[in-house]
Amino acid sequence: MAFVYRYSKMAEGMRPSPIRELFKMTQRPGMISFAGGLPDPAIFPVEEFAVCAEALRTQGTTALQYGASEGHRPLVDEIQRRMEPLLGRPIVPEEIVISSGSQQAMDMLARVLLDPGDVVVVEAPTYPGALHTFRSAGARLALVPCDEHGMKVDLLPDVIERCRRETGRVPKLIYTIINFSNPSGACLSEARRRRLAGIARELAIPVLEDDPYGELRYRGERIPTLFSLAGGGVMFASSFSQILAPGVRVAWAVAEAELIRKMVIAKQGMDLCTSVVAQVLVAEYCSRGFLESHLEKIRSHYAGKAAAMASALREHLPPSVRFAEPSGGFFFWLELGGDSRQLFERALEQGVAFLPGPAFYPEPAETVGEVVDGGPYARLCFTFAQGTEIVEGTKRLARALEQA
Ligand SMILES: Cc1ncc(COP(=O)(O)O)c(C=O)c1O
Repeated sequence: MAFVYRYSKMAEGMRPSPIRELFKMTQRPGMISFAGGLPDPAIFPVEEFAVCAEALRTQGTTALQYGASEGHRPLVDEIQRRMEPLLGRPIVPEEIVISSGSQQAMDMLARVLLDPGDVVVVEAPTYPGALHTFRSAGARLALVPCDEHGMKVDLLPDVIERCRRETGRVPKLIYTIINFSNPSGACLSEARRRRLAGIARELAIPVLEDDPYGELRYRGERIPTLFSLAGGGVMFASSFSQILAPGVRVAWAVAEAELIRKMVIAKQGMDLCTSVVAQVLVAEYCSRGFLESHLEKIRSHYAGKAAAMASALREHLPPSVRFAEPSGGFFFWLELGGDSRQLFERALEQGVAFLPGPAFYPEPAETVGEVVDGGPYARLCFTFAQGTEIVEGTKRLARALEQA
């Protein structure tokens, strides 16, 4: 009681993540789940990780001690080496911070950048964890709709202008998932990346380029990062969650050194440092060359699963359900032609779970400008399902659709 009447305004505004709540309903026995955005545990590199654990014999005293808030230096060096070709210029260690998941990197950025009432521009639909972070910082969200090529960047200047008119503020940040977005699977085209970089530069609005799925391209050529195209004003964030294992809780962000320094100070108030044990193991995993071979393995494994889901959806769902086959990442985004919330209930009865579209849009009350309704959409994750589950789950979804 001493606590519950004294919650902060921020805590009062906090709501449970809809995904985490729905997730509980998807855990029933016999349920096929396309709901969680989870990697396939069947190909976690358990043996290689066990080999890397040998490093604890030689580096145990470092691994078991507090570490630098900036990150374990050998891992920072690995990330520097991996990032330079992607980011298009030399990177110095002072421009890198290791975070406890990229969720934390987002939170660190929000803490140093956002005041209550500030506006963040996000694409719609977008990653609910980002919405949670921006909401917790007291920010409101301005939405730019997406199509199969990602954010409709042509609409961005109007969204910014409307935000200026309605709130008197220029947005503080643009948040975008450029590759194989969660949830839409869309990849921002190069032309749009160039235009987005140009608009952000012209209006001096910083950009958070969230890229956990960029290494998981199954078809086509890699597109240059926004960071490399913008020449400044972009923070790039990525994670080992999707390419190695989310249980390690190790991710990283790259940005100008002054911003990273501030974020490190914010991190010191959050967890002092990311688990050094985890960082030592991940650094060892990278330096032994395991990551490169694992990436090759998961790309072909997930490409097969994406193709299996595409053909199951084509075969079993009515043609009124539209989707684009993703070229990478974890997700299919379906346009149902009906309401996904009702379909969700019927799908659970049939024994299959997905995530209804509204989970990926902010509430009208926290939106500046145009509100977008996620009702007609559904996200299906294809990476987690095992064996015949992709086909069987799709058949169950088709049965739920027939009951409409
Ligand atoms: C787009 C996006 N950003 C960030 C995250 C957070 O990842 P983590 O905190 O595990 O690094 C996720 C996880 O699903 C995501 O999809």
